[in-house]
Amino acid sequence: MIATNIGTNELNHLTFAGMDTVDLAKEYGTPVYLMDEARIRENVRTYRKALSEAFSGRADIFYAGKACAFTELYRILTEEGAGIDVVSRGELFTARKAGYPVNKACFHGNNKTDEDLRCAVSSGVGYICVDSMDELLALEKICAEMSERQAILIRVTPGIDPHTYEAVSTGKVDSKFGNAIATGQAEEIIRKALTMRHLNLKGIHCHVGSQVFAEDVFERAADVMLRFMADMREKTGRTLEVLDLGGGYGVRYTEDDPVLSIPEKIREVAAAVKAACDELDFPVPYIYLEPGRSIVADAGMTLYTVGSVKRIPGYRSYVSVDGGMSDNPRYALYRSRYTVFSAGEVEARETERFSVVGRLCESGDILQENVPLPCDIRRGDTLAVCTTGAYNYAMASLYNRLPRPPIVMLRDGTSRVVVRRETLANVADLDV
Ligand code: LLP
Repeated sequence: MIATNIGTNELNHLTFAGMDTVDLAKEYGTPVYLMDEARIRENVRTYRKALSEAFSGRADIFYAGKACAFTELYRILTEEGAGIDVVSRGELFTARKAGYPVNKACFHGNNKTDEDLRCAVSSGVGYICVDSMDELLALEKICAEMSERQAILIRVTPGIDPHTYEAVSTGKVDSKFGNAIATGQAEEIIRKALTMRHLNLKGIHCHVGSQVFAEDVFERAADVMLRFMADMREKTGRTLEVLDLGGGYGVRYTEDDPVLSIPEKIREVAAAVKAACDELDFPVPYIYLEPGRSIVADAGMTLYTVGSVKRIPGYRSYVSVDGGMSDNPRYALYRSRYTVFSAGEVEARETERFSVVGRLCESGDILQENVPLPCDIRRGDTLAVCTTGAYNYAMASLYNRLPRPPIVMLRDGTSRVVVRRETLANVADLDV
């Protein structure tokens, strides 16, 4: 199996977090997102323990809520003591609703509005990661008006190609995010930030990309960033104390994807950080990583019900399910791979290849192609798409006015709804 929380039982049913998914589909209806609470906690702990060990207690995570954000998840993160990265007032609001201590949050985004900035400052977020010169000037003005002094990071683009898909590649010079070292813009904004009376520049941030497997991307980013920090010390006399290397570690969607050992990766980053700091005679900064996907992806699974099975002789065969690109747009957007099972017949004697498609009114509404499924798959069967915890619920839409699925949290053999299913009334709720 692609993850240790997925299995089969004596009925040849798919299990997730030890629970029978066919039963869960019956109990909660479909489509439904399942989440494995133990796996979320385990992933958070793995990161935090490895960071603490590798950096002698001077490192932590900001969990990137863009991967998945809802109140109960922020409650879990509160209990775990993890930091969070928020990118909107919506995420911040949700975290606060959960009672999350937002002084541990970092507010990101390439175009924060004045309202966002005011809200972030008045909520008391730990850091605002400033993305541009315009934003720096706006934030200084807002903090002056509010008589506040805000801790900030500056987003820097290190000029690194993470070799992942283009839509999630963000560390290159040509990016809508951040300030490039190569063009001198990073230096310019640091110099400016240091003159701001209401801003306390603590460090710099970069995020090179997402679903990254390529070797040494983070090590190279750390090296470039530390050299820049040393250069800024030289030029301004100021030693920045925080280095946030962003998120991006890849997860295993199919058997073809490698398994990344997060503790190993973190040890490699730590070695690169220490080597650069030694060479530059620079104090090892406080390190943050911002994992999103690798915290929640394998803690999620989506269940659907098959509606129709269609074979077009000489062409291909389709299985249509009761959700689609409105609850998981990732194949439509990025051709992302997923592992799909017939939940009631995991080991099938005879299989056939199908395109698993959704129920939305466009041909691009495909969840996955070339999926081996039992030949006798039929209307009413439960289908499971694995590893959907990241960027599925978070990117769900109301396309075709299909109500969004609920999230059911699994823990120790019990299940509970943590996000309710949208109702038809909800769908038209805002219409006047
Ligand atoms: N920090 C920053 C500043 C980010 O922009 C991101 C992701 C992360 C952290 C978390 O990266 P992760 O560990 O999740 O890879 N919708 C796309 C992914 C977009 C990622 C955007 N930024 C997808 O479904 O693949």
